[in-house]
Amino acid sequence: MRCLGATLPKSLNSQVSGRAAIDTERMKFALRADLLDFTHAPAWGSTELDGVRFRPDHWLMVDGKRIAGALPGSQTPGPDWQLHDHRGRLLMPGFIDTHVHSPQLDVIASYGTGLLDWLNKYTFPAEQRYADPQVAHEGAALFLDALLDHGTTLAVVFPTVHKVAAVALFETAAQRGMALVTGKVLMDRNAPPALMDEVAQAELDCEDLIQRYHARGRNRYAVTVRFAATSSREQLAMAGTLCRRHAGVYMQTHVAENADEVRWIAQLFPEARSYLDVYHRHGLLYERAVLAHGIWLDNADRAVLRDTGTQIAHSPTSNLFLGSGLFDWQAAVDTPHRVTLASDVGGGTSLSMQRTIAEAYKVQALRGTRLSAWTALYTATRGAAEALGLAHEIGHLDTGTQADLVLWEWAQGKVAQNRDDIARGAVPGLQMQDLHARVFAWLMLADERNRVGTWVAGRWHKAA
Ligand code: GUN
Ligand code: ZN
Repeated sequence: MRCLGATLPKSLNSQVSGRAAIDTERMKFALRADLLDFTHAPAWGSTELDGVRFRPDHWLMVDGKRIAGALPGSQTPGPDWQLHDHRGRLLMPGFIDTHVHSPQLDVIASYGTGLLDWLNKYTFPAEQRYADPQVAHEGAALFLDALLDHGTTLAVVFPTVHKVAAVALFETAAQRGMALVTGKVLMDRNAPPALMDEVAQAELDCEDLIQRYHARGRNRYAVTVRFAATSSREQLAMAGTLCRRHAGVYMQTHVAENADEVRWIAQLFPEARSYLDVYHRHGLLYERAVLAHGIWLDNADRAVLRDTGTQIAHSPTSNLFLGSGLFDWQAAVDTPHRVTLASDVGGGTSLSMQRTIAEAYKVQALRGTRLSAWTALYTATRGAAEALGLAHEIGHLDTGTQADLVLWEWAQGKVAQNRDDIARGAVPGLQMQDLHARVFAWLMLADERNRVGTWVAGRWHKAA
């Protein structure tokens, strides 16, 4: 069996300590770095260390697929551990992106439109290509490798209406050992004919996909309603039935993203109190429901989110790029209802969760409040795992969890290096800043170029 060192790129290999590589069936290795994760949710707006677990210069030990423990850097693990010394780097659980569209890598950064025109002009034409199995499989590989290359180890993903596009994602994720939540998109009206399904066949397709892929390995199924505008009442009812029939499946959709969209939904569903109520009436809101955006909600809607355990996948780069609006995170905290963070590529402009967090900070700044580095990072790791009911497996560095890990440079480039040197007190005449200041600056300045390596269930991911 190959040892980990043999699979690492040159720059990483050179960091491996001189100790002889150990070929064992169950690979045991330890990474030395600054470890950062969360034990519980930090208080909103607090820059204190409550919930923050920072272990500078520690070994994180990985036995097979799982985290086996941690030791201070001075206590070198025994001879049966293969050692990788990354002192001065940052090791964290992989990021979780709770809303992203795999086929929309093809339309990321498309000019000049708001949501509904953007769907018609760019997105729907691009998604039609995914009827072709070759396009679907190549697209899935490109997309999942891109996620890992950006430091994201779990995503909740929209493919297209085509069954083959969901199959391609499930199978490609399984090849990589990667956790994934996805499902065939449901849409039976207000879309190009090539992107529409029909209720009875869609139900059969979903049933088949659930049987074949849900809770198989690290794959999980999500009943995927594109949005209320593209599903008939019959299809929404069918989706609700699937959610009740199959314990453990997720539900994903969009809600209250754009003012024109909200007006359109009110015309399509005059019987509903609000956009969110359309989903509530069809039994689609529950603790494994992930609704993207949620910008144009009122307090009655927020109470429904709270009472049903539904989460909003806040997608700031998308909301700014499409001009959709400014998500009210403070209102979510006041309610309270669950919030996670999402790239929403291709409405969103980057798969990087640091960039997503930086834009989330700016959105809240425009609303007159501040998003702490701790709330943001917790939300993109352990918080998302908890919201998805997966915190027993991922989202933190507790012993026994899956080793979905990402190693980062604290700084990339001279400006970021200078800023990090100042934050950690390495510049004479300037006092060391607190850990929050350092991590906040990292979040604002870092992106995928800071990534050194990704491990998926203990297996190093070779960059695509
Ligand atoms: N609403 C319905 N479909 C989409 C989509 O693909 N992207 C975004 N951002 N919003 C949507
Ligand atoms: Zn979306």
